[in-house]
Amino acid sequence: MQGRGVYIKTFGCQMNEHDSEKMLGILSSKGFIEVDEPKKADIIIFNTCAIREKAEQKFLSSLGKIKYLKKKKPKLKVIVAGCSAQIQGQALLNRIHFIDYIIGPDNIDKIETIVDNTDETKQIILDENPFIHLIDFPALRQNKVKAWVNIIYGCDNFCTYCIVPFSRGKERSRPAENILKEIKMLGEMGYKEVTLLGQNVNSYRDQDTDFPKLLERINKIKGIERIRFVTSHPKDLSERLINVMRNCDKVCEHIHLPLQAGSDKILKLMNRKYTFDEYLDKIYLLREKIPNISITTDIIVGFPQEEDEDFEKTVYALNKIQFDGIFAFKFSPRPKSPALKLKGHVSDAVKSERLTKILKIQDEITETKNKDYEETIQEVLIEDKNEEGVIGRTRTNKIVKICSNIPIGESVKVKILKAFRHSLSGEIL
Ligand code: 5AD
Ligand code: SF4
Repeated sequence: MQGRGVYIKTFGCQMNEHDSEKMLGILSSKGFIEVDEPKKADIIIFNTCAIREKAEQKFLSSLGKIKYLKKKKPKLKVIVAGCSAQIQGQALLNRIHFIDYIIGPDNIDKIETIVDNTDETKQIILDENPFIHLIDFPALRQNKVKAWVNIIYGCDNFCTYCIVPFSRGKERSRPAENILKEIKMLGEMGYKEVTLLGQNVNSYRDQDTDFPKLLERINKIKGIERIRFVTSHPKDLSERLINVMRNCDKVCEHIHLPLQAGSDKILKLMNRKYTFDEYLDKIYLLREKIPNISITTDIIVGFPQEEDEDFEKTVYALNKIQFDGIFAFKFSPRPKSPALKLKGHVSDAVKSERLTKILKIQDEITETKNKDYEETIQEVLIEDKNEEGVIGRTRTNKIVKICSNIPIGESVKVKILKAFRHSLSGEIL
C-alpha cells in the first residue's frame, strides 16, 4: 500500500525525538508519508515522555483532541509509544478506549508489523527488547546538517527521582562498528555534526571500546566536523575522557553535566553517587584542560526533605560554578521511583518560589557569560535560516544570529558583536 499518511507528535527529550525519526524511517520504507495534521493521517503516533507529570498531561490533552477523528475514520490507528506508554501500559488502554496500540521505547521496531495488522485487536508491546541496541534503524532525519546517533540504551543508575530506568530498561551499549558505520554514512551524506545519545554516554562500552575510545574513532570520520554528546553522569566523567575531549579536534567544547542539587544530603537522597565537592573538582579539571569550555546543567528544586539551607547550597553552587546555562525543574513525584515514597515532600508553592529564584540568578549569570563573547571570533556552523538571515551555533553551543544568506551547513568565522541572554549576534569575517 502506498501513500498512507502518518502523523507523529513527540514529547520530551532528544532520545524521543530520535526514536520518532526511527519510526518515521521504518514507516517511510513501507510507503508512508509524514503529514502535518492529524486529520490527514491514517496512523497517529504519540511518542510520549514520563519524566515529569506535566509532560504526561500535555500528551493526554493532545490525545483528547483527536478522539473525534477516530469516530469519523474508523480505520484510523492510534499508537501510543514512548516512556508513558511503557509505564502506564494497560492502565492507559483501560482509561482511553480509542488507543489501538501501546508500544514501549524498547519496541519501536515493532511499528513495522503493527501498521499492517488488519484485525481490530488492541495490542500492548512492553517487553524488554534484548536486541534493540543491535538494530540499525533507517532514521528519517528532518535536519540535514546535524544528526542524532544512539550509542547506548537504557540506564542502570536509578537516581531516586527518575522514571527512566523503568521506562527504558537496562543499560545496553550499541556495537561500536554499527555506530561508526552510521556516522561514516552521515559524513558521506553531507552531515556536519553528530550528537551521540544515551542516558549516560560515559558508561558506554563495547568490548575494549569505551566512551573515550569511541570518541577518538569517531573523530577520524571524514566529513563530520563536530561531535557532541548527551548526557554525561558526573560520577563517570574521567580525566581520560576530559583529555580525549581536549585532544580530539572535532569534539566540541561543551558539556552538559547534570548537577541536580548543591546539597550533599539531597545528592545522597537522590542516589547521585557524588558529593558537591567531587562535582566541583570535575568542573575545575574541565576548565583547566579545556579553558573555553561551556558547561550546562540540570537542577531539580523541591526534592523531598530539601530544607531552605539545602536549597541555598544549590544557589551557592550556581554562583560558584557560573554555568553557561541550566535547565531547572520542580521535583515531580513519579510512579515506581523511590523518591515518591520518601518522607518530607515539599509544597508546590515552595517549589515554585525556589524555581523562580534560581532561574533569576542563572539568567544574570548566563547574560554575563554571553557578554564575554562580545568582540571574540567564533567558528559558527550555519544550521537554519530566518527572515533576518541565518542562525548557527558556536562550538560551545551558543546560538548566533547573522544577517547573511550564506548556505546552511557552512562553517564560518564570525565576529560576535552583541550578546543577549539566549543568543549572540555577529558578522561573518
Ligand atoms: N522531577 C523533576 N525533574 C526530573 N528530572 C528527572 N526526573 C525528574 C523528576 N521526577 C530532570 C533531571 C534530569 C532531567 C532530564 O530531568 O534534572 O537530569
Ligand atoms: Fe535518570 Fe539518573 Fe539515569 Fe539520568 S542517570 S536517566 S537522571 S536514573
